[in-house]
Amino acid sequence: MSDGVQSKMIRSVVRGFGAALPKRVITNRDMEAIVDTSDEWIVQRTGIRQRYVAGDDETTASLGEAAARAALANGGLTPADIDLIICATSTPDNTFPATSVNIQNRLGMSHGFAFDVQAVCTGFVYAVTTADAYIRGGLAKRVLVIGAETFSRILDWNDRTTCVLFGDGAGAIIIEATEGEGTVADRGVLTAHLRSDGSHKEKLYVDGGPSTTGTVGKLRMEGREVFKYAVGMITDVIQAAFDSTGTTADDLDWLVPHQANRRIIDGSAKKLNIDAAKVVITVDLHGNTSAASIPLALATAAGDGRIKKGDLVMLEAMGGGFTWGAVLLRW
Ligand code: UT7
Repeated sequence: MSDGVQSKMIRSVVRGFGAALPKRVITNRDMEAIVDTSDEWIVQRTGIRQRYVAGDDETTASLGEAAARAALANGGLTPADIDLIICATSTPDNTFPATSVNIQNRLGMSHGFAFDVQAVCTGFVYAVTTADAYIRGGLAKRVLVIGAETFSRILDWNDRTTCVLFGDGAGAIIIEATEGEGTVADRGVLTAHLRSDGSHKEKLYVDGGPSTTGTVGKLRMEGREVFKYAVGMITDVIQAAFDSTGTTADDLDWLVPHQANRRIIDGSAKKLNIDAAKVVITVDLHGNTSAASIPLALATAAGDGRIKKGDLVMLEAMGGGFTWGAVLLRW
């Protein structure tokens, strides 16, 4: 990690961003017709008001491709300018090949290389960290980092404790090698802190897979158990990112959290004394889109002019595994 050391170094700087959502919206009122729930319960417990759900003609790769094309257009680039694609997803179109390779092909690319990262809701934080390591290691110059999911396909639509929470979508950023001074004033990824602990598997998992049941399986979650750990794990990694760069909550312009639950987001910000006005919230519009939630939130807040060039931005997530992590970057 760079961690603010003063010497010229390669930084991974954001060049473009984009997002894509399925055509169909399902509101909380619509959910009332599917399971025994209420708009009031969902809003109070989670902050979610609606979610997007993929139709038959939409998949993780098609949404990822659309987000990638939007990011390329935003950055003034074409697929020829990209040398690596990393897609974070837990809902790939196929067990293999990787969704990123599918997206590479959809973009008309036969140069460079592509692979997927699987860290469930923390996937995008892992993918940005991986892309940064490839750039700083000299293995890639311009990386398309995508978070794309169709969790609607692995939900048990009879289980009200999970099916109301998740949605589909995709977001993407392009990061490129740029020389920096080696200080926290540099644009680009400044530090990253990743964690995992497999002893929590049973609290959030999918009950199928190629090597066990030979089926895709459905998402199972003990929500209250996950909730118990979330704020502590999230605040630990955010604090580590502050400490390793000598920055504080006051220096931060934007917290762009994984959008699982409004109460988890508010609780984490409060514990770290991060002003609520600096927190980007999209969970009301998108629900929990797992690895897609952070790039969707980034595209929302950069698209409407809130996140500006030079802003200090903290990304954080926690999810299945458990996995959790934070990335501090200057936009
Ligand atoms: O992104 C990956 C990480 N995942 C998360 O961060 C999710 C973390 N967990 C959560 O966000 C919350 O635990 C939930 C939103 C999933 C649930 O909220 P909660 O405040 O922890 O509720 P609960 O599980 O304690 O359930 C409270 C009550 C229960 O009824 P009883 O036992 O008190 O009678 C549930 O049966 O709410 C009931 N309930 C519902 N009622 C209406 C559960 N789901 C629903 C529902 N509609 N959809």
